[in-house]
Amino acid sequence: MKVKITETILRDAHQSLLATRMRTRNMLPIIEKLDEVGYYSLEMWGGATFDTCIRYLNEDPWERLRELKKHMNNTYAQMLLRGQNLVGYRHYSDDIVEKFVIKAYENGIDIFRIFDAVNDIRNMETSIKVAKKQGAHVQGTICYTISPVHTVEKYVAFATELAEMECDSICIKDMAGLLAPHEAYELISALKKEVGLPVALHCHCTSGMAPMSYMASCEAGVDILDTALSPLAGGTSQPPTESTVAALKNTKFDTGIDLKPLSEAAAYFKAIKDEYKGILDPISEQVDTNVLVYQIPGGMLSNLVSQLKEQNALDKYDAVLEEMPRVREELGYPPLVTPTSQIVGTQAVLNVLMGERYKVIPKEVKDYVRGLYGRPPAPISEEMITTIIGDEKPITVRPADLLEPEYEKIKKEAEEMGIVSKEEDILTYALYPSIAPKFLRGEAEEEILAPVPVANTTAAPAEVAIPTHFKVEVDSEIFDVHVEPIDGAITVTQSAVQKPATISEGAVTSHMQGMVLSIDVLVGDVVQEGDKICVIEAMKMENTIHSPHNGTVKEILVSEGDTVTTDEVLMIIE
Ligand code: CO
Repeated sequence: MKVKITETILRDAHQSLLATRMRTRNMLPIIEKLDEVGYYSLEMWGGATFDTCIRYLNEDPWERLRELKKHMNNTYAQMLLRGQNLVGYRHYSDDIVEKFVIKAYENGIDIFRIFDAVNDIRNMETSIKVAKKQGAHVQGTICYTISPVHTVEKYVAFATELAEMECDSICIKDMAGLLAPHEAYELISALKKEVGLPVALHCHCTSGMAPMSYMASCEAGVDILDTALSPLAGGTSQPPTESTVAALKNTKFDTGIDLKPLSEAAAYFKAIKDEYKGILDPISEQVDTNVLVYQIPGGMLSNLVSQLKEQNALDKYDAVLEEMPRVREELGYPPLVTPTSQIVGTQAVLNVLMGERYKVIPKEVKDYVRGLYGRPPAPISEEMITTIIGDEKPITVRPADLLEPEYEKIKKEAEEMGIVSKEEDILTYALYPSIAPKFLRGEAEEEILAPVPVANTTAAPAEVAIPTHFKVEVDSEIFDVHVEPIDGAITVTQSAVQKPATISEGAVTSHMQGMVLSIDVLVGDVVQEGDKICVIEAMKMENTIHSPHNGTVKEILVSEGDTVTTDEVLMIIE
């Protein structure tokens, strides 16, 4: 039986290897060629692309979708949607989910691949129903993971529920590259036999097993395989498209795809990849068999590296890898995928960085334990519940049942801010209230690509190229500065740019590098030890800062929106 191919280069491949930074301008010149290859679908939207577009690229994600779709006449446009979380990091009310799915469909999405991080079908219901109502193809997705509570029977039961909700196909999403060939064969055979819907397999190469599992899945009757063109394949990304197509040639699984257009498209992306060399982390390109021990998905490893870099703690990488499975077990074995990967990952990072487990607990971790993300696959122990949320009781209903409709309120808010020029802007604001206003006002700037590291061959250190062209920001104005060497030599002096920390009495400092999301006190306020004084967003999680002692707020040294470094003084409480 002919196997179909879903190409992921415009979404998952660069999300896994290039921190989701590929620009629309890098996609448009090749979209027509991709459309002619003979792929079943192109995954090109959703996942983390929405976030990075507005956070780092100063690009409108809706615009990207429309622009790409214009050139797609033969291939389905596919997106990855996190159920009730859409493309954000919390549960949204049903009316927002409905609006978002409708707008995504109207702007061009044909196939909605819908998943929930903890495989809680209640979190997928609304988006599945709305997408089906629009006439879209819905791929109900199983997040694959390994744990004492994840069995073939459980997965089949879940897929049966998805089929009952009228999903058109089933996707097995192996975000961590954990699916071994034998397990792939068993699981896909069972799904084909018991559920009967077409099955798509989405694996990451992290552990090195994916190509073998793809072959085994063909034998079991898989219908669709997810691959990425070779320049952005392998490592934490998907198996290479060209190799998969070639391997299946002249077999009963032949994809019918020609290798020639694939190699042309690959040549294009090879050049693009060079532009992004500066952000390509060599770790994410390698096979990492640790994943078989730590069970950490592709995107998460590269995120972890950049989180630790941000916190100046890359040396803690191994310690965090060790901590991750402990936290995962304590939280009831959630599959590690957005947002649970951030939840487990950030808590593990904090447990290691703070030198004490669960000393700092982000709001999202508390909400997860409260049940606001859905039902954990295994129950969380009473002891852990108390450690994380004290005397509170976790909820038992569908999390979104607790949410009042919020679309109209958010719409009004956005309109009053003057940031709405089309309906989609309201959704952008609803999803990212802290970063969207700046973007929608046109005040965001495209992140400057990290410079390509210079290959240090046999050249003496003095011959290593020293950058001579800088962009310097002074009072939010950007100056282009060129420096020229005098007498052929540049002396680089380490100047004291570090802000000296003025530690005065009563100083409250930041535990981590991040952005001040809100300041919850005013100068003159009397606070008690433990009172919430501000919220810092670090590693995409909200961390509440509590007053370390009783006193009066004497001075506030930061403002909302400021970036703060570790140990920076936030305020003085005397
Ligand atoms: Co993936």
